Amino acid sequence: MEPNETTCRICGGRVREFFDFGRQPLSDFFPSEEELDKEFFFRLAVGMCATCTMVQLLEEVPRDRMFRYDYPYHSSGSERMREHFASTAHRLISTELTGRDPFCVEIGSNDGVMLGTVRDAGVRHLGVEPSGGVAEVSRAKGIQVRTAFFEESTAREIAEEHGPADVIYAANTICHIPYLDSVFRGVDALLGPDGVFVFEDPYLGDIVEKNTFDQIYDEHFYLFTARSVHTTARRFGFELVDVERLPVHGGEVRYTIARAGRRRPSKEVGELIAEESRRGLADLTTLEKFGAEVRRVCWDLVSRLRELRDLGFYVVGYGATAKSATILNYAGIGTDLLPCVYDTTPAKIGRRLPGSHIPIRSAEEFKAPYPDYALLFAWNHLDEIRAREAAFTEQGGRWILYVPEFRIS
Ligand code: SAM
Ligand code: TMP
Ligand code: ZN
Repeated sequence: MEPNETTCRICGGRVREFFDFGRQPLSDFFPSEEELDKEFFFRLAVGMCATCTMVQLLEEVPRDRMFRYDYPYHSSGSERMREHFASTAHRLISTELTGRDPFCVEIGSNDGVMLGTVRDAGVRHLGVEPSGGVAEVSRAKGIQVRTAFFEESTAREIAEEHGPADVIYAANTICHIPYLDSVFRGVDALLGPDGVFVFEDPYLGDIVEKNTFDQIYDEHFYLFTARSVHTTARRFGFELVDVERLPVHGGEVRYTIARAGRRRPSKEVGELIAEESRRGLADLTTLEKFGAEVRRVCWDLVSRLRELRDLGFYVVGYGATAKSATILNYAGIGTDLLPCVYDTTPAKIGRRLPGSHIPIRSAEEFKAPYPDYALLFAWNHLDEIRAREAAFTEQGGRWILYVPEFRIS
């Protein structure tokens, strides 16, 4: 095995590296002043399996380091995402949770942003959420949660206690789980014969098309395509029966999986897989070209930030996102170019961004006299943040975006 190869976590094939972001910190550990020397670092490199085409990280961060009691990401922080999950829940309730006493399990239920609607509808439910703090927040809302990692053993326990699930749902979580084999065996143990396993995650097709390379970080172990999910589902006795492209988080796909032979796959499945082939998404050269773009955009951003600073402009960051770790640490951007970053999340305020140690300030302090420019790391919430901070642009401030490339808006 070459130094830039590993073994596929799913099929044992050879994973060939196509991009190396170098030494990176945990993306969701925002150190306090006293914790600055307690960060965990790893090599963030990404590759594709030559056999099953699954795109995956070459190095795995131990799960307990990422999903801790104080995991800082609270899903309910965005209004748009609250709406997205309410409508997702309504759809599952009216299409899949229609039998007598249906049961819905959510993997990675976080602060209960989706299950709240399921509970309001009086549907039996259970969240499986290892991060204790967000699990408590959802419990306080009257949602049933088990503080645990979803894997085969957890699934078997749930099946024994509660019986089979009609829906197993997950958003922005399945791509976080390297032990996908155990997840599929768990789904096999828990899902009813006609149940569905539905999950949505950032889509490799969008990441390559929109150059949203900062979606690559420790937690996003897999970057799925319809083809790689289709192949994986089959391996475990399931079938990918539907795909739906979603406009959230810069472009995701919702995959619906059923037991093999129970449902007829929609035409969208074949169409998306064919589109991926046309685009060469399973060719290493396509992914290497994407890597070259990443390099170009990062260096361009650094030189534009230097230029603005040298011209005397005051530039800050906005959105202390997990995504920001990738670009800041890869491009070596620190407080000399961005003195601070603003964010609305109470758990992040007063702490520092991972690796770069840029201080995080409350979004309430983002007010006149405004900076000249704000670099938006939470680009996936552009409309919501632009509306919230309308006074910034009204008073002459400008937003800077860096995906798909540097742009002042
Ligand atoms: N579903 C929410 C959403 O889309 O906003 C939360 C997404 S958050 C990025 C990922 C969540 O998955 C975290 O709350 C984390 O604790 C949880 N998680 C990580 N590994 C898990 C596992 N093996 N089983 C269940 N949840 C897991
Ligand atoms: P995400 O990109 O992983 O969803 O993280 C979004 C981050 O941006 C999170 O730390 C909260 C922050 N944020 C704001 O500061 N203001 C806002 O209006 C929104 C929607 C998010
Ligand atoms: Zn593989």
